[in-house]
Amino acid sequence: MDIKTLFTPLQALHATAYRWWQTGLIYHIYPRSFQDSNGDGVGDLPGITQRLDYLHWLGVDAIWISPVYPSPMADFGYDVSDYNNIHPLFGTLADMDALIAAAHEREIRVILDFVPNHTSDQHPWFLESRASRNNPKRDWYIWRDPTPDGGPPNNWISRFDGQSAWEWDEATGQYYLHSFLAEQPDVNWYNPDLRQAMLDVLRFWFERGVDGFRVDVVYRAMKDRRLRDNPPNPDWQPGMDPSKRLIEQYTKNTAESHQLNRWLRQVADEYEDKLLIGEMNLPLADLTAHYGDNDEFHLPQNTNIPRTEWTAESIRNLANQYDALLDENDWPNWVLGNHDVSRIASRASRAQSRVALMLLLTLRGTPINYYGDEIGMTNVEIPPDRVQDPWEINVPGLGLGRDPERTPMQWSADPNAGFCPPDATPWLPLANDYAQVNVAVQQAQPGSMLLMVKRLIEIRRQSLALQVGSYQSLDTPPGLFAYLRQHEAERRLVVLNFTDRPQRWQPPVALDRLLLSTVMDGEMGRETAVSLRPHEGQLWQLNAT
Ligand code: GLC
Repeated sequence: MDIKTLFTPLQALHATAYRWWQTGLIYHIYPRSFQDSNGDGVGDLPGITQRLDYLHWLGVDAIWISPVYPSPMADFGYDVSDYNNIHPLFGTLADMDALIAAAHEREIRVILDFVPNHTSDQHPWFLESRASRNNPKRDWYIWRDPTPDGGPPNNWISRFDGQSAWEWDEATGQYYLHSFLAEQPDVNWYNPDLRQAMLDVLRFWFERGVDGFRVDVVYRAMKDRRLRDNPPNPDWQPGMDPSKRLIEQYTKNTAESHQLNRWLRQVADEYEDKLLIGEMNLPLADLTAHYGDNDEFHLPQNTNIPRTEWTAESIRNLANQYDALLDENDWPNWVLGNHDVSRIASRASRAQSRVALMLLLTLRGTPINYYGDEIGMTNVEIPPDRVQDPWEINVPGLGLGRDPERTPMQWSADPNAGFCPPDATPWLPLANDYAQVNVAVQQAQPGSMLLMVKRLIEIRRQSLALQVGSYQSLDTPPGLFAYLRQHEAERRLVVLNFTDRPQRWQPPVALDRLLLSTVMDGEMGRETAVSLRPHEGQLWQLNAT
């Protein structure tokens, strides 16, 4: 059935003026950790399909699934050896078709991860490329001669160890470039045949019904053509992330990046209503350039909250700065975290995680929720013998490893949290607190974080002010962040207490009704001032203007 025929009347109304990815909530799934359906301790596609009813119940409009393609798993799927297939660990192409169909039946869109910067060193393209200097695919990757003394062509370093980003290939006497692991050679987008092959990957999946892509490290894919050395970073000191030793002037966010964005967008625009999210770990001013003239990314991904101190003042500055930088056609977007950064409930605190979710779901722009954040999952400490992430293995002890935020979803108090059968070993350890912090317990517990988040999503769905309204922050005492959202006469006020102290504040607007407190204890009423308990967020309806 055509997905458009499934809209509720309210959504249909929005659909005329706004796209699904503007009004909707996107839910990010790390597939290894969502649901294991076959007892191997690793999540898979049939597992995701089994859990679609949960996502539908929660009110999710789209899922973004980190890579599920064939891969030697040197970087857990971000090293792709075949873009047009599914890794047997995750299932089959038929499983993906079934997932897409089942998601669409529930009005849930499916977004896949596209990795354009590099392939696996086991991808047939690279095997050919490295076979000989005159192989037709030699130029699909970035090969260079050594310097006269035999060294690498320039000073670029790899993200995952801070060592040279050039790997020597004895057989053909040249170096190849890898921005990440040596098992992840960078491709050459300046080569038209490579470009064509990569763009055809997008078409392959769009034809199968995929609704969009999150495009991995796309801001690194177009390197300086002259391969100029990166300058040293004067702020770097030993003990810091070794890959930050240089300022990445010539390896990321180059002027040519925008050309790549436009190539991708042109392909998306060959189809109807597709979404492109670009991974851009960039400060706001650089990030917002990647909308282009409505011809680059629909959503250059804003990953600034995870890089911002969790205080009312810093988050308010971030939101205000972003709002000021956006042009009329640029649609904002927000994440609290993802598979590469510490979970919000650990970074901010568990007590603050409800406030954080209220922030995510009420700021102007598309919210992208990382799986498990809706129940307050925290980072899990990984014993040394269970470390999986190559970054932690290469650069141990600096806290760079990403396993802690990638642990299995906590579904229930059953053994292995319902993620995999009791006799299976999950690929990463489960949180110690899973018997209390899980979906089943919270679904049945009045006032739980999960029910709070679900209620917030429902309220958001019913409110054009929250979905598409304007944003205006208000002056508050320290420790509070308050903002208005308005669409025509409909107004909402959000007040967030980032502190562990009670707060009282007289807003400059007339309050009508408390719609939701993150504390969820039913204390709702008509008041003239806002009283907040420690770590409380409140969402108010205001008198219509
Ligand atoms: C992106 C992914 C990360 C991966 C890296 C290399 O940053 O989010 O998980 O390791 O790209 O592909």
